[in-house]
Amino acid sequence: MSEPAIIEVNGLTKTYQVGDVEVHALRGVDLQVRKGEFVAIIGASGSGKSTLFHILGGLTPTTSGSVRINGRDLAGMTNTERTDLRKTTVGFVFQKYNLLPTLSAEDNIRMVQYIGGRHTEFDASFQEILKLLGIADRMKHKPRALSGGQQQRVAIARGIVNSPAILLADEPTGNLDSENSAAVLKLMKDLNQRLGQTILMITHDADAASYADRIVRMRDGRIV
Ligand SMILES: Nc1ncnc2c1ncn2[C@@H]1O[C@H](COP(=O)(O)OP(=O)(O)OP(=O)(O)O)[C@@H](O)[C@H]1O
Ligand SMILES: [Mg+2]
Repeated sequence: MSEPAIIEVNGLTKTYQVGDVEVHALRGVDLQVRKGEFVAIIGASGSGKSTLFHILGGLTPTTSGSVRINGRDLAGMTNTERTDLRKTTVGFVFQKYNLLPTLSAEDNIRMVQYIGGRHTEFDASFQEILKLLGIADRMKHKPRALSGGQQQRVAIARGIVNSPAILLADEPTGNLDSENSAAVLKLMKDLNQRLGQTILMITHDADAASYADRIVRMRDGRIV
């Protein structure tokens, strides 16, 4: 409880304008996540989970309310600062892995490392992470030569290669069978417990959410 809030959301709203229609995706969200927490956000389809995820990653502008990431107000950031946020402070994992098919697993990870301005070498601690993820011996493979679970583990490695303060995962097990889901979730739990990685995971699967320390429920654009 003594750790500072790494994510602080107050009165957040997001309204999409679709032609003449206003879609109220977020209707006043308050959320605090402390450093080192593993939080699951659960809620029905359309409840606003991905919208919140995109806002936290600086990918979508807010309508009103405030969002602070690592003590910095997103609203006050320039585009360049928001891009820097994505390079260094927030890592992403998506439902569909989003690996580049023509690059090896290793090059998929190195590319993000390069964009983040880091050395394109994996240091000893990152080698350990690859072992923990069970993909150290799969680095030369292209995504098509990997199972869905392995691809998602490569995507997780890519998400944390620049040591982001926060790992945002949107339905990371949404494309996986139950065995691979359990393996990926267990690894995320390990990353959280062993490395203190702060994780915010969106899911609509109660089983997946049970791996988190805390479950936050969304309904109709609000946290309930
Ligand atoms: N780019 C957009 N333009 C217009 N409306 C949008 C846009 N993105 C999302 N919405 C709407 O905002 C609401 C919340 O969508 P969101 O994608 O955040 O839900 P979700 O909880 O992630 O759902 P799912 O579980 O299906 O992924 C929905 O009514 C959706 O149709
Ligand atoms: Mg979604």
